[in-house]
Amino acid sequence: MALLCRSTGLLLKHSKLLPSALAATRQSSSGVQYEYILVDKKGEKKNVGFIQLNRPKALNALCDGLMLEVGKALDAFEMDSEVGAIVVTGSEKAFAAGADIKEMQNRTFQECYGGNFLAHWNRVSTVKKPVIAAVNGFALGGGCEFAMMCDIIYAGEKAQFGQPEILLGTIPGAGGTQRLTRAVGKSLAMEMVLTGDRISAQEAKQSGLVSKIFPVDQLVPEAIKCGEKIAGNSKLVSAMAKESVNAAFELTLAEGSRFEKRLFHATFATEDRKEGMSAFVEKRKAAFQDK
Ligand code: HXC
Repeated sequence: MALLCRSTGLLLKHSKLLPSALAATRQSSSGVQYEYILVDKKGEKKNVGFIQLNRPKALNALCDGLMLEVGKALDAFEMDSEVGAIVVTGSEKAFAAGADIKEMQNRTFQECYGGNFLAHWNRVSTVKKPVIAAVNGFALGGGCEFAMMCDIIYAGEKAQFGQPEILLGTIPGAGGTQRLTRAVGKSLAMEMVLTGDRISAQEAKQSGLVSKIFPVDQLVPEAIKCGEKIAGNSKLVSAMAKESVNAAFELTLAEGSRFEKRLFHATFATEDRKEGMSAFVEKRKAAFQDK
């Protein structure tokens, strides 16, 4: 039996996918229907895109449909000129407990390799607008990798991060061995990847994986506040700043500094750079136009 999933546009061919496909879809503020996520715009000026992973019964396990919806929502926020930053969160119990093990269980090597399994997850790391992950509860496996694809991670004080794939006989497949190592250094990354042991929010902060920790109920409001702060700056120049910081993970210091310099020079071609400096000199708040 085949069924067209309203939220993903995918033709669902396997009977085991039917229950979730038949679950009620939810409408976002933009009118798009989503099944696995809640999508909204937050902040006083509604300039912060908000995505909440919403498969509570599966601790937000990241099934294909969920990740396709996240990609769709990110595409919509990229196109939305009001939105200057995006917050992604889960529930108090789980940001996400990993890729969906039940969905992966019977996949063959041929299917994974041939279909480039999980390639679409990369969308999270190619968004131009700044993305903040607000992590309460478990961020395990693909959940931890998802958070690390975001630009800033804020953690609730009970958050736990881990890469437990080794316990399932596999390894991280969405950048975990790469981003975790760059974030926390070799020894801790190796320990986490080789033992599957989790680290607490406090350890994550200490090791540089997250930038701030908040009480559980203040995490999302604080992430939105950070998003509002970012969205108040020039979106154009923020994208350049993000691109330049990300280049630090790819380039040598000399190449990276040259890349940075070129983007810095490019800001001088923008109205927003002129406005920012004029506003400082005239002792007023800058009004950026994103051009
Ligand atoms: C599918 C999952 C799931 C997952 C939890 N569930 N994690 N389903 N995929 N990753 C489901 C459980 O089957 C269960 O549903 C329900 O969520 C609640 O989970 P419990 O285990 O009963 O909850 P609890 O005892 O509180 O334990 C929480 C937990 C544990 C410690 C997070 O669920 C756990 O260890 N989950 C797996 C974590 C993991 O190994 N993640 C890595 C996945 S591999 P039912 O219906 O059975 O009651 C991965 C590969 C990445 O991410 C590769 C690139 C992306």
